Amino acid sequence: MGAQKTLERVISKAGLGSRTQARSWIHAKRVRVNGQVVENPDHWIDFDRDRVEFDGKPLRIREKVYLLVNKPTGYITTFKDPEGRPTVYDLIGAVETFVSPVGRLDLDTSGLLIMTNDTQLAERLTNPDHHVAKTYVVECGGVIPEESIRLLRNGVELNDGPTRPAAVKRLGGSGASTTLEIVLTEGRNRQVRRMIEAVGSKVVALTRTQIGSIAIGQLAPGEWRPLTPVELDRLRRERS
Ligand code: URA
Repeated sequence: MGAQKTLERVISKAGLGSRTQARSWIHAKRVRVNGQVVENPDHWIDFDRDRVEFDGKPLRIREKVYLLVNKPTGYITTFKDPEGRPTVYDLIGAVETFVSPVGRLDLDTSGLLIMTNDTQLAERLTNPDHHVAKTYVVECGGVIPEESIRLLRNGVELNDGPTRPAAVKRLGGSGASTTLEIVLTEGRNRQVRRMIEAVGSKVVALTRTQIGSIAIGQLAPGEWRPLTPVELDRLRRERS
């Protein structure tokens, strides 16, 4: 960890909990710096020199953790839901280190979610400047004509601007629905759903199958596993 950080960041980066939790623990006087209780979450810490304790125990920087989760529909990707719906944290209950989802998936979207406490890698994977490809399989209502597929490929106009060119493949379909594979290099809010609506259809089912070259493979919905060292190495170099 770099030398200078706010106390709140030091606590959350140590893998104990979210930034919000870190703030509440600091306010609850559970954190000491060089033996003194510090109640200000924005207090600057030099982690190389200052001694930080949580509940009387020296703060340990936990190892980096990288999980690949197959999110089922009906689960949200935030830590707590005021409405009490299940969250992805219910799926990874046994994992002791606090990890955050890399990007969001909607309640009704299933598929590949990476969760980690490596904020640098998370930033690399989500920042659109890095163009890391996210692959989705989307079932859309009705027939999607070739002209719409061309539009999706070239970019459609959304209320927050035109979408980048995308790779779009028709995987199948009947009269009632069409299945497409869409590869995006940006990750705007509800982007696939809005793109499909922009060409006059609606999403029936949406699943993310791949981030960069990492695929969900045979992992069953609701299951998770650690990323392998080879996958991690590939992810670190990822760029489309
Ligand atoms: N696009 C969407 O519309 N929803 C998601 O969850 C992910 C991508």
